[in-house]
Amino acid sequence: TKPLRDLAAAKGKYFGSAMTVTELEDTQNRDLTAREAGVITVGNEMKWDATEPSRGQFTFTGGDRIWAGAVAAGQRVRGHTLVWHNQTPQWVQDLPADQLRQAMLDHIREVAGHYRGKVFAWDVVNEAFEENGTRRQSFWQQKLGDGYLAEAFRAARAADPDAKLYYNDYNTDGLGAKSDAVYELVKSFKQQGVPIDGVGFQSHLLLGGVPASMRQNLQRFADLGVDVAITELDVRMRLPADSAKLATQAADYGAVAGACLAVSRCVGITTWSLSDKHSWIPSVFPGEGAALPFDAAFAPKPAYQALVTAF
Ligand code: XIL
Repeated sequence: TKPLRDLAAAKGKYFGSAMTVTELEDTQNRDLTAREAGVITVGNEMKWDATEPSRGQFTFTGGDRIWAGAVAAGQRVRGHTLVWHNQTPQWVQDLPADQLRQAMLDHIREVAGHYRGKVFAWDVVNEAFEENGTRRQSFWQQKLGDGYLAEAFRAARAADPDAKLYYNDYNTDGLGAKSDAVYELVKSFKQQGVPIDGVGFQSHLLLGGVPASMRQNLQRFADLGVDVAITELDVRMRLPADSAKLATQAADYGAVAGACLAVSRCVGITTWSLSDKHSWIPSVFPGEGAALPFDAAFAPKPAYQALVTAF
């Protein structure tokens, strides 16, 4: 059967995967990803702790390696992520407000500037909302207030006028308080002329947990005039996996792909790695895992077949 990247492309979408340097050095993983993924999202190496570990000292080694590997495999690259509350050095978090604002603008200018013309999209701001739809009380929010989001997007547009600029979050996949808040953000950006081109739905899902309203939710964002994308898909289960759980997971993957395919402005689906060998889930959710379309030995799971069928 054809690789997912080709099946998706035939439907006008992309299929992609996250990639880290560790995963690139695993040749089986590298080869599988080259075959299946048409788009690479950089898993860790473009985050702040990797790119500006101390103030004004920029290092692009890891991100450049992943970018070069992607180009060699004929893949396009999504940048991830410029402004987030995690994986951001302590020196940033300790700055007083006026210096924090300047550090944010400098960081965006340098990182998005370095990758100008090399990435086709950026997750400009990641995870700025709480589950109830209020602003997450991160150091960004506490020191800079509501306005830092718009400032970040304006800075990103100035640094790379051609990249699609995304707001990216989790638990926003269906209708609800959190996705309502993102919806209002995008609406106000559009009204005020703040540059935004897309919304990323991470889709870190629980087994059997695809929201019934996912298609409707993606469509309402598309109707605001932005692209939408599934950016970090995985479907985790309590371990060990068994055939019933894997069948449910396959249905979940098929449902997510179906939601994206039903929305013309849904540009693509990215899974957060391809193989269970490299998934972030077991380290963050103890006792859970088996969340990806390939098992830890790189054999395709029912979820992979479900994606093939959906595309
Ligand atoms: C994860 C990475 O996969 C891990 O390797 C790292 O230790 C923590 O971050 N939401 C995001 C991603 O936007 O950047 C996160 O990636 C997973 C959750």
